[in-house]
Amino acid sequence: MAQPRILILGAPGAGKGTQSAKITEEFDVEHITTGDALRANKDMDISEMDTEYDTPREYMDQGELVPDDVVNAIVDEALSQADGFVLDGYPRNIEQAEELEGMTDLDVVLYLDVGEDELVHRLTGRRMDPETGDIYHIEYNPPEDPDVEARLEQRDDDTEETVKERLRVFRENTEPVIEFYEDEGALERVNGEQAPDEVWEEVKATIEDAA
Ligand code: AP5
Repeated sequence: MAQPRILILGAPGAGKGTQSAKITEEFDVEHITTGDALRANKDMDISEMDTEYDTPREYMDQGELVPDDVVNAIVDEALSQADGFVLDGYPRNIEQAEELEGMTDLDVVLYLDVGEDELVHRLTGRRMDPETGDIYHIEYNPPEDPDVEARLEQRDDDTEETVKERLRVFRENTEPVIEFYEDEGALERVNGEQAPDEVWEEVKATIEDAA
């Protein structure tokens, strides 16, 4: 196929960012991630959009969804500039899924399936390298270089309390999105509880099969 158009779905901590980095490299596609886009614009003024809070930060730090109008505009703009992509973090509710239908066609819809106890463990142990954006885990995937280890940072919303709220928001808003794609016969389930390289083998094979 030409550059594939891939959607990756999964709960917070399911490994979307980890697998998207591999997909981007292997299939030469753009990584479009609403979480990163919003983190880079946490303090932008969105008050003109008639929102409850004035910036994305207030929603994100509480584990709540940023309003649809803000996120839809980010995704629409990013998709218009990409031939192939892996879309990560969107859609997160049915309204966004319907909006996406009008923006593009998808070649593959992946769902990384991971149980809730494992999700909490992964998120509270996640660390980021602020210089490269690389993702680590203090137990599962620690950096080998001590200089990298010394500069690792924890995301503001990876505290246990906020993680629980993010998982509640996922169950309420995003599980219906998974059913939406399942009903369309488009959903490809991947066992996300395996080691990252094993998950990657399944992800890669699923994308290649769709070609
Ligand atoms: P976002 O940044 O999208 O966060 P998320 O969906 O909660 O997903 P994460 O990035 O936390 O997890 P991930 O699945 O990428 O896991 P990772 O690969 O890092 O969203 C943040 C916030 O932005 C939202 O709460 C909301 O406020 C807002 N937002 C974003 N999109 C929005 C939208 N569309 N609408 C409205 N609001 C929106 O892995 C996690 C950890 O596990 C890492 O430490 C990793 O090393 C480890 N790991 C990964 N895979 C494995 C494995 N197979 N085995 C063991 N460990 C693993």
